[in-house]
Amino acid sequence: INIGARSGASVESAMPSPIAPSAASITIRRPDDWHVHLRDGHLLAACAVHTARQFGRAIIMPNLVPPVTKVAEASAYRERIRAAVPKDLRFEPLMTCYLTDGADPAELTRGKAEGVWVAAKLYPAHATTNSAHGVTSMDRVAKGLEAMEKAGMPLLVHGEVTDPDVDIFDREAVFLDKVLAPLLKRHPGLKIVLEHITTREGVAFVEAHPGRLGGTITPHHLSYNRNAIFKGGIRPHFYCLPIAKREEHRLALRRAATSDSTQFFLGTDTAPHTTDTKECACGCAGVFNAPVAMQVYAQIFAEEGKLDRLEAFASLNGPAFYGLPPNEERVTLRAATLDAPDHIDVPALAKIITVFRPDTPVDWSF
Ligand code: DOR
Ligand code: ZN
Repeated sequence: INIGARSGASVESAMPSPIAPSAASITIRRPDDWHVHLRDGHLLAACAVHTARQFGRAIIMPNLVPPVTKVAEASAYRERIRAAVPKDLRFEPLMTCYLTDGADPAELTRGKAEGVWVAAKLYPAHATTNSAHGVTSMDRVAKGLEAMEKAGMPLLVHGEVTDPDVDIFDREAVFLDKVLAPLLKRHPGLKIVLEHITTREGVAFVEAHPGRLGGTITPHHLSYNRNAIFKGGIRPHFYCLPIAKREEHRLALRRAATSDSTQFFLGTDTAPHTTDTKECACGCAGVFNAPVAMQVYAQIFAEEGKLDRLEAFASLNGPAFYGLPPNEERVTLRAATLDAPDHIDVPALAKIITVFRPDTPVDWSF
């Protein structure tokens, strides 16, 4: 990486400040996004460019309606994504299989061998958006997971229990004990990504399983805690699943992301919903952060005084986990007022999608 000095840095560094050694720019290998919802049709057409502008590759979530469960469906979806990305951007969609009860081991093995599946996604049934076809018990996917162990195909986990008796803020921590710990024992060869971790328990669980577990962390869970969802009224654009937790958890995520652990890597969980479907009586879960993702991550690493760790988190740890080479191309982020729209248009639907904006300043541009 290459960190450029901000003019006047010597004056700033003489002042006692809890904040970063300041830098005017940072050059890193092009990052990848290991957790993205690109949707399909008109939403895909509006959203794909925003991910492709920032990232070289992205793990594409399969929670379409109907879900992506077949190799042929994933290949066709990959072509639609490629067609939605402007020609001047080099972008590689990495496809995932949506696991359902009775997931076919042969379909998993074949798709991996054919270079279509990079991983498979486990949604506990009814945990989140379009998860109605998700898994109702681990017994019902055991054969599929055994095939994945043999094929060296990682499992990506939405780590929340769905038991209505478990408080929404406890669903991740309970999942670790009740589901993930037994799963690790039952499938000793399986590599797992605990997606969008939101708790200090999630951080600790990943750290306790080096070599087996990775964890992705979103820009929004690094930016705000659960209070922000209710500050001055209910704020639907801060609502996503897993829901943001207490401040102590946000701080644990910031420590994990900026630590020297190679187990944590970038996954935005950018999840577009048109603004009308978020600002209503039963708003959808999801934060659309693709246009501002790297700017927000850079802000957080700068605030933590850890800009020198941004490249590992954004561009190195993820490829290493997946056994892929890092991108060769370099990109530069500059310290400058954020230059991003507050919404994007979906012209074919005559609708808009609101872009994530933290309450705190973002002083990076990309
Ligand atoms: O907030 C979320 N939105 N969490 C998920 O797990 C799914 C996602 C979506 O697809 O909208
Ligand atoms: Zn997601």
